Amino acid sequence: MARIAAGITTSHVPAIGAAIDLGKTHEDYWKPVFAGYEWTREWIAKPENRPDVVVLVYNDHATAFDMNLIPTFAIGCADEFKPADEGWGPRPVPVIKNDADLAWHIAQSLILDEFDMTIINKMDVDHGLTVPLSLIFGQPQEWPCKIVPFAVNVVTYPPPSGNRCYMLGEAIGRAVASYPEDLKVQVWGTGGMSHQLQGPRAGLINAEWDQKFLDDLTANHDRLRKIRHIEYLRETGSEGIEMVMWLIMAGALGENSRELHRHYHVPASNSAVGHIVLKPKQ
Ligand SMILES: [Fe+2]
Repeated sequence: MARIAAGITTSHVPAIGAAIDLGKTHEDYWKPVFAGYEWTREWIAKPENRPDVVVLVYNDHATAFDMNLIPTFAIGCADEFKPADEGWGPRPVPVIKNDADLAWHIAQSLILDEFDMTIINKMDVDHGLTVPLSLIFGQPQEWPCKIVPFAVNVVTYPPPSGNRCYMLGEAIGRAVASYPEDLKVQVWGTGGMSHQLQGPRAGLINAEWDQKFLDDLTANHDRLRKIRHIEYLRETGSEGIEMVMWLIMAGALGENSRELHRHYHVPASNSAVGHIVLKPKQ
């Protein structure tokens, strides 16, 4: 049977993608950002840790979806998805190859489990999805595993609650566990951490709040799932709400997972960067 072998979260700051694509990762500003991912790159390169499939939870930034169409939760079910042109041409990264059979199975399982998923067969994927892949896998010719794009609306109000995201993660866990093929699946949650891109509070960072959030990914799921939108907004800035996507990863892994690695760095562009690797209780 398929099983969830690990969970990874990481910020998906677009400037990180540009730093990689333009060969700036060794510059003094960027070095400490990327240094925190070296452990993960070595860890995931080992055959026992390499996933067959990543369910990659991210948000689209008005690239594939705009005010014409705003799915709260969407799953990509086509065989492949291309990197989007976000204004400077598509990022020079491989096409996303999906495990369409698993994606359709997850879609069916979630919908019958009473989560109203939108099924997407045609879309381009933006930095929300490609920057985490670059951070964890570097710059390969092909991504080393299949990737199921799993998009969450956190751009247009109202985004889903953290608790709803957590329950959806639990349902993803049930979907994976009921898939008959023997697959190692990882669930990644992306976005965050504290950041605000506009208005008088632009540049807001709340390192103490972020670190407590990272702590509670292993220590206190109950507290995380009760955090309300207004707290994310007040404490972590207008874009900190992206962290509800991390709760999909947390729900999929369940309580009592073990922290293998953590990285927290400020600043990267105008955001705090957070990254954590978790292993579920077997
Ligand atoms: Fe984002």
